[in-house]
Amino acid sequence: MKDKKIAELILAERKRQSEGLEMIPSENHASKDVLTALGSVLTDKYSEGYPGMRYYGGCEVVDQVENLARDRAKKLFGVNHANVQGYSGSPANQAVYYALLNPGDKVMGLKLYFGGHMTHGLKVNFSGTIYDSVQYETGKDGYLDYDAMMKQAKFEQPKMIVVGATAYPRIYDWKKLRKIADEVNAWLLADISHIAGLVVGGVHPSPAGIADVIMTTTHKTLRGPRGALILCNGNPSTPLKKAERTKENLPTLIDRAIIPGLQGGPHNHQTAAIAVALGEASQPDFKTYAAQIVRNAKKLASELSDRGYNLVTGGTDNHLLLIDLTNKKVTGKEAEDALGNAGITVNKNTVPFDPRPPFSPSGIRLGTPALTSRGLKEDHMVQVAQWIDEAITNRNNTEKLGELGKQIKKFASSFPLPSDR
Ligand SMILES: Cc1ncc(COP(=O)(O)O)c(C=O)c1O
Repeated sequence: MKDKKIAELILAERKRQSEGLEMIPSENHASKDVLTALGSVLTDKYSEGYPGMRYYGGCEVVDQVENLARDRAKKLFGVNHANVQGYSGSPANQAVYYALLNPGDKVMGLKLYFGGHMTHGLKVNFSGTIYDSVQYETGKDGYLDYDAMMKQAKFEQPKMIVVGATAYPRIYDWKKLRKIADEVNAWLLADISHIAGLVVGGVHPSPAGIADVIMTTTHKTLRGPRGALILCNGNPSTPLKKAERTKENLPTLIDRAIIPGLQGGPHNHQTAAIAVALGEASQPDFKTYAAQIVRNAKKLASELSDRGYNLVTGGTDNHLLLIDLTNKKVTGKEAEDALGNAGITVNKNTVPFDPRPPFSPSGIRLGTPALTSRGLKEDHMVQVAQWIDEAITNRNNTEKLGELGKQIKKFASSFPLPSDR
């Protein structure tokens, strides 16, 4: 690369990733093939519209790319319509709101403090300013409280219920959620951004055929490039015909919300990389990877519990752990900094009913997807838990953190990144 400055920074980031342990649950390591597709000439091509109906010439190749991505997404998730053009998770959620609601309509989503995403109704996000947002909480035990959700939905009568989280360590009961939405005649949006890889890997129940619309990012457990899928069932209507807001019209409503509603030209290099990732996710070894993510998270949870750490809900069913550090007399920010200094990247996070602010919350969030992609197994989680505990305990001891950093660097470097294999 001629741009030495950027080349150096890319190398520096590669070194940071390969010499450390990446434990942010929303991150992962994409394959060499995904990176190759992302860095291809497909980025040069404009193609507003959809395959077969473009506003630009020369789309015969990118049409095939997008069709492949759509077909693979439909097959993998078991739905009959897939939109693969969302630039990322937040704009894709915005497209679902735009497709199904009018400004001012009521939406019920999980509060940020309890693990919800900003796009699920946070007051300073589009979802909380353009729409009338009401928010639900988890129970005191950290689990979703389906009875309380039903009560709140009956009282509030939302037009859409959003389910999904950035920090929820348990399984979703989609059928119960469907019942709540049906009771008040609301749309049900399943935002499976975090767990999509677990869903297609067969270790988390799928909302396909239950939720009206599924949105997922493609870069978390699914292990693709940054991007999003919006999935649903229904029948695309003929172009230019008005589409009422019915279940049958969901494909048309979603596609029109993306373009002309919110976006212009799709990112064809990103679409190609999504297609590659979906191809990888349909291979048998992806199921092994998904199962290993959960086994690693459960082992890490039990090792940290044994060391006196308080896990929200007492453990995990999926890829992440939410730790309340109050009993350790350390804040999430202090723990994030100490772990970062030792080469373990995590992020501070609020815990349910957190008395502290989001910039300095009581907890941290840890995940196993990226470590699993590098080949770590349950036995390694014993060592990782030990290092996490030592770094937090010695957070004010620079020398000890430096020593831990050396051990972690040696260990991490023996597990090449997938793109280096
Ligand atoms: C549940 C959930 N939805 C949506 C998003 C938004 O995705 P993006 O960051 O790609 O906009 C995230 C990202 O963290 C998420 O966790």
